[in-house]
Order: sequence, then structure tokens, then C-alpha cells
Amino acid sequence: MMKRIALFTSGGDAPGMNAHIRAIERVGGKRGLEVVGIIGGYSGMIAGHFEVLDRIRTANIIDRGGTVLKTSRCEDFFNEEGRLKAAQQLRAHHIDGVIACGGDGTFHGAHMLWTEHQIRIVGTPGTIDNDLSGTDYTIGYDTAINTAAQAIDKIRDTADSHGRIFFIEVMGRHAGFIAMDVGIACGAEYVAVPETLTDIDELYHRIVAQGLDKRTVIIVGEGDELGGALGISKAIQERYGMASKVSILGHIQRGGAPTVRDRVLASRLGAAAVDALIEGKTDVMIGEVGNQVTYVPLENTWMTRKPVPAYLADLASILV
Ligand code: F6P
Repeated sequence: MMKRIALFTSGGDAPGMNAHIRAIERVGGKRGLEVVGIIGGYSGMIAGHFEVLDRIRTANIIDRGGTVLKTSRCEDFFNEEGRLKAAQQLRAHHIDGVIACGGDGTFHGAHMLWTEHQIRIVGTPGTIDNDLSGTDYTIGYDTAINTAAQAIDKIRDTADSHGRIFFIEVMGRHAGFIAMDVGIACGAEYVAVPETLTDIDELYHRIVAQGLDKRTVIIVGEGDELGGALGISKAIQERYGMASKVSILGHIQRGGAPTVRDRVLASRLGAAAVDALIEGKTDVMIGEVGNQVTYVPLENTWMTRKPVPAYLADLASILV
């Protein structure tokens, strides 16, 4: 029987993680569970940084970006010794089940905790990249695309005033979800994503057709095979002598107050994660598909590549 559960946030922080923590503490309390926060992701788990959460600790955090539980990218968890220490800490703290909020790296670790040490653990999708199979959206994605769109709109003003060509790079690692959505939302002339090869000649002719004295905004996913926005800008300069500006939005996309959508998603998945542990589920990610809460084996979240919906690519190419 579950008495004490733990949760942690891991990998890149994502807006909405605090709403998620709050929901887990509240729902856990209502179900009669003690809820423990692990501070600093897998590093904190190995080091034994555990803290009992209560209503006061989780009050007034729903609107805050980042994660009050902190996060890490933990190298030690890649080796067996690190994972053994983590499992020992969880047992020493009498943890009956764990909720791991993060991306595919986090889920790899969670899967190993279950298979190697039989620690009951469920994952929740917390990443701005939206690249996890088994959920339509990840916690943090909606905020990130809105933040990126606001920044791009501002760059467009100056691009327009000067009649300049801008390559704007957005995050997303190996996935083009952010690029595609903000490309459409900001009326970009071209969207380069890691999922498809970028054709420099086609891109150049697209820009020429637009008019070289006109503002041209091109969105580039950071994982594009030509080396992101800098790579494309350089390639087009070398081949056609065409000058352009490069703007890399970077970590601004990970911060800030979560949108309503992210707060609601984070709260819903937090509540569902607590109930999943109570029902005996383990080694699954709790996601949302077509408005329904779903449970997919953790392995499936990274083994099947989540495609950027084809309709988005079609829209992006016809709306230019
Ligand atoms: O996974 C989220 C993310 O922001 C990616 O979009 C990006 O590639 C990566 O994390 C950056 O990670 P870090 O902040 O550790 O450099």
C-alpha cells in the first residue's frame, strides 16, 4: 500500500513544473499520502536531498516559471553505481512510489530504476520540446511557443523597418515542434526543421521571390542539419553572397510564468500521476491524447519518434 511518494523534476526546466508539483502535493495529501520532494533531480536523489512537501511549501508557486524543486542533468545516473545509490536512498526514505517529471533522458533513468531496482515509478512529460510520443503536448511547450512568438514579433518590427533577412533560431533539440508552430504563428517565410532536409537553393529563391529589400523572417529549429540559424546563414552567404542577421532565442524560451494551458495540463497530469501510483502502475508515462489521460510504457516515449503533424508543414508552406 502506498503511504509515501516522492517527486522530482529533471533535465531542462519547463514552465508549468511548479503547477505540477503543487497538484501532486495537493492530490497526494487528499489521498492520505505523504509527498516528498527530491531536490535537484537525479543528483539530489543520489545525494539524499529529500524534503517533505506541504500546502505552505507549494502555495503561491502555480504562476512561477522554473522549478522550486530545482533540476539537473546528472552524469552519475548513467552508471550503475549512481542508480544503485539512488535506489538505496529511496528505500532509506521509505518511498513507495516516485513521479519523475522531465523528458526522454529522465524517462531512460526512470525505466532503469524500475528494471534494475524495482522502484515503482511513473513519468510525466515536462519539457518545452514537445518531443515525447504518447502525449499530444508536454508541460512547458505552450509557454515556450508563446514566449518565442512574442520575441519573434519584436524582431519582425526591426526586420521590417530595415528590410532585413533574419534567421531566428528556436530550441527543440532534435524536434521541430517549436519551430513549426511559431513559424506559422509569426508568418515566417520559411521554417527549417530537423525532421526534413533544408534546401539552401530553394530557400534562397524563396527569399529572392519575396524581394531582397523586404523583411524576411526565417525560423530555424536548433537541430537543423545545416547547423542551426548560424549554419544556414553562413551557407547562404557563401553560396550566394547574401547577407543576413542571426538571432538565437536561447533559454528565454524556458523561463517565465506558465500559460493557462500549461498550468491546467500540469495540474491534470499531476493528479493523474498520483492516482496511477495508487492503482499500482509503474514504468509508464502519463500523457494526454485527444483530451484523455493516457498511459504509455516509458520505453515507447523515446523509441517511437513523434512526428511533427504533416498538416503543420503543409500550412507553413502555403501560408508564406
Ligand atoms: O530539452 C529542453 C532544451 O531546452 C532543448 O530545447 C535544448 O536543446 C536543451 O534543453 C538545452 O539544454 P541546456 O540548458 O542543458 O543547455
